[in-house]
Amino acid sequence: MNVIELQGSFGIEQLKHAERERLTPGPGQVLLKMKAVSLNYRDLLMVKGHYNPKQPLPLIPCSDGVGEVVELGERVQRVKVGDRVSPNFAPTWLNGPPNKEKARATLGGPLDGTLTQYMLVDAESLVKHPKHLSNEECATLPCAALTAWSALVTQNKIRAGESVLVQGTGGVSLFALQFAKIMGARVIVTSSSNEKLEKAIELGADEGINYKEQPEWGKIAKKIAGGEGVDHIIEVGGAETLKQSLRAVKIGGNIMMIGVLSGVQSKVPLTSILMNQIRVQGILVGHREGFEAMNRAITHHQLHPVVDRVFSWQDIQEAFRYLESAKHFGKICVSIDS
Ligand SMILES: NC(=O)c1ccc[n+]([C@@H]2O[C@H](COP(=O)([O-])OP(=O)(O)OC[C@H]3O[C@@H](n4cnc5c(N)ncnc54)[C@H](OP(=O)(O)O)[C@@H]3O)[C@@H](O)[C@H]2O)c1
Repeated sequence: MNVIELQGSFGIEQLKHAERERLTPGPGQVLLKMKAVSLNYRDLLMVKGHYNPKQPLPLIPCSDGVGEVVELGERVQRVKVGDRVSPNFAPTWLNGPPNKEKARATLGGPLDGTLTQYMLVDAESLVKHPKHLSNEECATLPCAALTAWSALVTQNKIRAGESVLVQGTGGVSLFALQFAKIMGARVIVTSSSNEKLEKAIELGADEGINYKEQPEWGKIAKKIAGGEGVDHIIEVGGAETLKQSLRAVKIGGNIMMIGVLSGVQSKVPLTSILMNQIRVQGILVGHREGFEAMNRAITHHQLHPVVDRVFSWQDIQEAFRYLESAKHFGKICVSIDS
């Protein structure tokens, strides 16, 4: 079977097609014929060797993909041949809090990922997809969508009428925007681009702030949210944005720590966290049960993920360079040619 792997070293230019032996499912396992993959910022860090410089190679990158069940091992009952499914990002994390083992065993590093024609997976890790979605749309759900869902629903309890601030217009943030809207929240979005802010407003955001034009956007967001501040912040920026988030958030509000796009080390004014009783909650994607709950909501609301571009897997390097350029709005997908 054909796969895309990083062979001797890291780097986008090292992503190469290779042949590997097609495996047969053992007891409890399933063979998937992969249809589509979506790219996450984490995949870019992994490919460049920034996520884990000690990651053993070769590695098949990417955590997110959708496939059709083509072969079942013994004792598999959760799925049948023909089902369209995705493995969970952390395949052994089924529900509740993870332990270290479940949290660290993740697809696309350290485990081989989804950029492959066929993938052998444990049936327990699989989630079936909403019927109204295309393969590419399904492929966007395992990491970006589930992270946004965990931040707003599983680890938090967003209520109608509350306010949510999402940073930027990448994968996680646009899913958070869409989920917050179906739950009746008011959404403020920040972006470096006025054109992307317009698109976010078309998608349902109530207000937009250009964080390049307004570097002190925290104060503006607080004002927009009625002076008291924002209830929930989807923090994907990290080092450079956390200070602004602490200005924007209301007393007793939530900062959902998800990403580190602007760096991992930050001088944080700790007194504003304690004086204002801010809850800072780390998020690590999510469990299979959360993925299933999210897919029920997506089906009920007939929601469609925002797919910016679909690349052929022959153009995998171009797809990663497009992700690196940050020109995208929403998700970048890759279709797996048979
Ligand atoms: N903890 C978890 O479980 C988890 C899961 C998924 C992702 N993440 C992390 O979350 C972050 C976002 O991931 P993603 O896949 O959604 O990325 P993405 O699709 O590549 O989105 C990146 C977007 O974020 C915005 N951005 C970049 N720098 C920013 C800054 N300094 N302030 C505000 N916005 C900024 C930009 O939007 P504009 O172009 O609109 O400015 C950019 O297009 C990454 O750090 C990723 O590693 C964590």
